[in-house]
Amino acid sequence: MTEAAVCPVPHENRVHPLGAPAGFAEAISDGPVKMLWPNGVEAWVISSYAGVRKVLSDPRFSANKDGQPEMRTEGEQVLGLPEPGNMNVMDGDAHLRLRRPLARAFMVKRLNEMRPRIQEIVDEHLDAMERAGAPADLVSSVCLPVPSLVIAELLGVPPEHQALFQATAREMFGKNGSRAEYEAKAEELDGVLLKVVQEKKASGTTDDLIGLMVNDTDFQMDELLFLAIGLLAAGHETTSNFFGLFTLTLFEKPDQLAILKRDPGRADVIVEELMRYTVGRLGGAGLARRAVEDVEVDGVTIKAGEWVAVTFQANLDESLCPHAGELDLERRAVSHLGFGYGPHQCLGANLARAELQILLRTLFTRFPDVRPAVPVAEMDFREDMITYGAATIPVVW
Ligand code: HEM
Repeated sequence: MTEAAVCPVPHENRVHPLGAPAGFAEAISDGPVKMLWPNGVEAWVISSYAGVRKVLSDPRFSANKDGQPEMRTEGEQVLGLPEPGNMNVMDGDAHLRLRRPLARAFMVKRLNEMRPRIQEIVDEHLDAMERAGAPADLVSSVCLPVPSLVIAELLGVPPEHQALFQATAREMFGKNGSRAEYEAKAEELDGVLLKVVQEKKASGTTDDLIGLMVNDTDFQMDELLFLAIGLLAAGHETTSNFFGLFTLTLFEKPDQLAILKRDPGRADVIVEELMRYTVGRLGGAGLARRAVEDVEVDGVTIKAGEWVAVTFQANLDESLCPHAGELDLERRAVSHLGFGYGPHQCLGANLARAELQILLRTLFTRFPDVRPAVPVAEMDFREDMITYGAATIPVVW
């Protein structure tokens, strides 16, 4: 058993916009280390592949985020609040009660049926980008609107409220916002959603996610509204950021981009490798858990009540695959941690995969010469969000 010295968590100044915060890799290189977060909370950082899987799947670690380590010194992080319907902070049966019925809607078969519609939405947005001509901002023309429309359709919410979905998502995933600002947006969105709920009740449909929650579960109204807002927000923020990050990674590595262009039919495997590598390279301190009893992980004893943050840098662990620190789009898919692991593993992973595969394949097939209009290092990145990504990606073709 080792007692590590406590160092402040490195959280700013990425040396490269697609790399980890400066000093992070060095700080974790000798195994588990305790770090101090800006809100004064200490947490162990676990970075080995086996260690991260243990923390995320062992029931002796709770997902309850009350008092978690946070990057900000004021306010509250909405995602960590114990709201009714916030499955991300629940354990055991309470978590399963919410998660199980929704998981049906995210089954591969159901999402495969959505693929033609996703393709249509992608095509429409790339048509519009082409019509407007170069240069274009990939974020506003494709990255943001596509996942936003897809999740709205899956939920069964009218797409004309897209701007409100995006604004609410920004508050939900913002690092520096306030609970009051989030609540103001959420209240506005509740108004829209309540009308939708009434319509679904009247029609008895279970064809979309809100219909399913209204007509085929025992969810209470406050749970249902939080879940709907959470899914809308998660559907926006994550996939859109990752489509941008993947594109930038490929721009930086023309030899790897050539592999996608040569064989776009392998987009499924390629997306897995891009996810493994991109998330791993961004590193930093990721998901938080709290020990409910003493647990040994990677040679240290995490005592009951102590916080743990797992880092996605574990995706670059050599025990996962050879040359794990390199992007290799010819690699067979490996079991990476980009969508988490264990009971809270991403509910929307199959949806995100379908969207990212279609987006990447279509972008580089239709615009084989698409390239950044300015160097990647000069682009603006969203440092103020829990969900990191490029603020704009100017491209020409
Ligand atoms: C590239 C895109 C995405 C990435 C990288 C991603 C990543 C993750 C990760 C790492 C977790 C685990 C959180 C934890 O263990 O505390 C998670 C959970 C979750 N994700 Fe995603 N996600 C993506 C897209 C989506 C989409 C499109 C949706 C919904 C439409 C979604 C809905 C959720 C939900 C509801 C949870 C919580 C599950 C639970 O607590 O049981 N995600 N996601």
